[in-house]
Amino acid sequence: MIIAIDGPAASGKGTIARRLAQHYGLAHLDTGLLYRATARVLLDSGLRLDDPARAVAAARGLALTDFEEDKLRGAKMGEAASIVAAIPEVRSALLDMQRKFASRPQGAVLDGRDIGTVICPDATAKLFVTASPEVRAQRRALELRSRGERVDYADVLADIRRRDERDAGRSAAPLVAAADAARLDTTDLDVERAIAAAVAIVERAKR
Ligand code: CDP
Repeated sequence: MIIAIDGPAASGKGTIARRLAQHYGLAHLDTGLLYRATARVLLDSGLRLDDPARAVAAARGLALTDFEEDKLRGAKMGEAASIVAAIPEVRSALLDMQRKFASRPQGAVLDGRDIGTVICPDATAKLFVTASPEVRAQRRALELRSRGERVDYADVLADIRRRDERDAGRSAAPLVAAADAARLDTTDLDVERAIAAAVAIVERAKR
C-alpha cells in the first residue's frame, strides 16, 4: 500500500505521515528533506540556489551524511529548499529515488508537495492536508522555538505565505491537490483527531 500525503508548510502532513507509517508498519520518506539537503549542499559550498546545473549536481550527489536533520529543519533551509525545488531539472534528478523508495514490496508513506500528482499517481490513498496560514504559522513558530531558534510569529507567517505562493505558483510540479486526493483540514484538529481522520481516509481508500 502506498500512501501519498501532500500539503503546504506546517499543515501537519509530516506528523500524519509518520504516524500513518507507524500505524500500518510502513517505511516513511519525508521528501522535503531531499530538497532541504540539496539546498544545504549548495549553501555550504557558497553556491547560488538558482543555478540549475549546480543544483542538479548537488541533488545527484546527495549522500547519507547530507541528511543530518538538525541542520535541515531550520527556517532558512525551508526557504532555500523551495528555491531549488522550483528548478524542473532538480525535481527530475530526485524523481527516481523517490519512486524506488515507494516501490518496495510492502509499500510506503511519502509526504511532500507532488507525491499524489507526480511521484506516485497510482497511490492507494492520497491525502491533501491543509490548515489556515495563521494556524500553520503558530505551529511552525512553536516548532522552531523548541529547536532553539529565536523567531517572531509575524516573520514565520510571512515566510509561510511566501513559500505557499512560490510552491503553488511554480510551473514544475506545483503544490496542488491531486484530483482524487481526500482533503484533510487540520485547522481545528489536535494531533490525535487529525491522525484518526487520516486513518479513516486510508481505510476508505483501501476498500
Ligand atoms: O516542513 P515544510 O512543509 O515546511 O517543508 P518541507 O516539506 O521540508 O519542504 C520544503 C520545501 O521543499 C517546500 O517549500 C517545497 O518547495 C519543497 N518540496 C517540494 O517541492 N516537493 C516535495 N515533494 C517536498 C518539498
